[in-house]
Amino acid sequence: MSDKIAYARHGDVAVLTVKNPPVNALSQAVRQGLWDGMDRAEADAGVRAVVIVGEGRAFFAGADITEFGKPLVEPNLPALINRIEASPLIVVASMHGVSLGGGLEVALGCHYRIAVPSARVGLPEVHLGLIPGAGGTQRLPRLTGVEAGLDVMTTGRHVGASEAHDLGIIDVLQDGDPAENGLAYAQKLLDESAPRRAVSEMDPPAPVDWDAAFEATLARSKGQISPAWCVRAVQASVEKPFAEGLKAERQIFFDLMQTDQREGMIHAFFSERAVGNLPELKGVAAREFDHIGVIGGGTMGAGIATAALLSGLRVTLLEMSAEAGEAARSRIAANLAGSLKRGKISPAQHDQILGETLSVVTGYDALAGADLVIEAVFEDMDVKKVVFAELDRVCKPGAILASNTSYLDIDAIAATTSRPGDVLGLHFFSPAHVMKLLEVVVGALTAPDVAATGFALGKRLGKVSVRAGVCDGFIGNRILSTYRIAADHMILDGASPYEIDAALEAFGFAMGPFAVADLAGLDIGYAVRKRKRMEGLDPRARDAAYADKLCEDGHFGQKTGKGYYDYAAGSKARVPNPDVMPLIEAERAAQGLKPRAFGSEEIVRRYMAAMVNEAAKVVGEGIARRPLDVDMTLLFGYGFPRYRGGPLKWADMVGLDALLADIKGYAEEDPYFWEPAPLLKDLVATGRTFDDLNKEG
Ligand code: CAA
Repeated sequence: MSDKIAYARHGDVAVLTVKNPPVNALSQAVRQGLWDGMDRAEADAGVRAVVIVGEGRAFFAGADITEFGKPLVEPNLPALINRIEASPLIVVASMHGVSLGGGLEVALGCHYRIAVPSARVGLPEVHLGLIPGAGGTQRLPRLTGVEAGLDVMTTGRHVGASEAHDLGIIDVLQDGDPAENGLAYAQKLLDESAPRRAVSEMDPPAPVDWDAAFEATLARSKGQISPAWCVRAVQASVEKPFAEGLKAERQIFFDLMQTDQREGMIHAFFSERAVGNLPELKGVAAREFDHIGVIGGGTMGAGIATAALLSGLRVTLLEMSAEAGEAARSRIAANLAGSLKRGKISPAQHDQILGETLSVVTGYDALAGADLVIEAVFEDMDVKKVVFAELDRVCKPGAILASNTSYLDIDAIAATTSRPGDVLGLHFFSPAHVMKLLEVVVGALTAPDVAATGFALGKRLGKVSVRAGVCDGFIGNRILSTYRIAADHMILDGASPYEIDAALEAFGFAMGPFAVADLAGLDIGYAVRKRKRMEGLDPRARDAAYADKLCEDGHFGQKTGKGYYDYAAGSKARVPNPDVMPLIEAERAAQGLKPRAFGSEEIVRRYMAAMVNEAAKVVGEGIARRPLDVDMTLLFGYGFPRYRGGPLKWADMVGLDALLADIKGYAEEDPYFWEPAPLLKDLVATGRTFDDLNKEG
């Protein structure tokens, strides 16, 4: 028998213990071991029941995702589950930790299910671009009915044990050791002469309007297709005999396995975990931190303070006046009220944070004891230099000094202090207590343990942290500036902001670039453009000044009620601001440009080509260490659709040679903007992909 399964006999019950750390994924060796364990129990004279239990953190986290996309090795999971269910012995699943995907499907193939109250179950396959493929869509609805079953499958959410018990998924809730619980339950079932109870033999649930459910699910999933296909699989569970339903489910599962959406989502799953694992920081211990200083209590500073407070850190927030301090405290209180309402903190925690853990001060000396200080003041180098000089004066030795700047040079900031090794960038995204991305910007002189502390802080705050090198805009904003310029060029040439937003939202972005600009505030881009003009624009660069005129008229987006859109009817209404097109038309006329029509396909191609080209430069220059760092930046900070994996995974799937050909074609009109990235050219020449670079580490 495989060493992944331990077999033990307790009277007339056999216990199969799964040992496949960290989360008991159902790898081939585990599947074979379970199969052999069932054979052995059935051949073991006197055994009348089997308990399946996981060792360590979980029952099973599901199929082994690393096997996806590779040739199938027997026994396959559906066959194993059918084999377990068909056993003449009574089979009990004793669940703890998570039972997800194939893990829950194994439990559904058992005849009875017991779980500890902290257990969670779920069918998260939709998050991998799949549907449950080992009987989950056929067995679960037989226990829960169609509506609840579809809710579990199409959301992929984790269902707590108590709710799962109410839904009929778990038979018994019992605190204690899962192995002992399972054994006692099996014994009880034997004592009561409980029947073998196969879910597949239960009546199918009542039908629903399948087409309506399919369409509604598709509309909710923003371009992702797998949730809607759960509906068709469940339909088969109602309309076909069990074995036929299973075949229909398997077919859909295999069809989805061949899709780019599946590939993109699995890339996202592993990259999300790999992004914080930097080879260069292996073995580097982070510095201790418990007390965080935050300078500036505007939206960003208050958001950072809120994130730190919610993760149990002590915060001292510095503002310039008592009045500004009060405003900052109110912003933090409003954020915390939201967390309280959503049940993220208890009323007692809420009161303690505001009463004790947060202090708002007006003098730098109060930061003397802070372990790590993050400044979130006005985006101006001279202002930052003053702040860092003060920090250098008051902070204790070994304290980490961080800037939340989105564009400015961290090395120049570090150089104004006597301790550049302690300085780094921690670039949060607004609202900082909500957005998952954190760019950890490592300067030329940043000490390795300071970078490691940036990642440790990110982890503590529940962020996805990405290492970025120093350049204008780091990873995310540098790439954003470029694809935004590509959008502006399309506007000069004839597209409207509304066509561009619509095309990119259809591609899967949460919001198009102009709706995003309105949300972030048009003043941000305006300030950057003014700074770049002052630094001197390259004469070959095309300039689109129409957006500046919007700002000059006082329209900064949502916060002033008007930007590209008019927000009088609310932010969801998306009513175009009638002032915008005349400004654009005037600009085209001033530049002597004749507008032409753009279809949504061309809009997406140009926009994505600009994004990938700049991303390839960012990787080629070492600003991002790996392509996956760019992918996670765009996914968690810029609304890139998860089911496309990230821009560079998307590029691999589209084909790098076709993309390079597009870029070279565009370069014929505008060679300055469309200069192909050397890395992209190199990958095409050597027949490699961005993902090959991820694998090289
Ligand atoms: N297969 C392979 N590896 C897995 C895995 C799986 N199903 N689930 C987790 N892992 C790995 C992770 O990659 C990670 O590896 P590293 O330490 O090398 O980075 C390690 O296990 C621990 O995982 P996390 O860091 O995510 O730990 P966590 O405690 O934060 O979360 C978890 C644990 C809730 C199980 C989470 O990992 C998770 O959600 N896993 C995926 C669950 C899933 O999607 N299951 C369905 C699989 S598809 C299926 O089963 C298809 C079918 O019907 C046949």
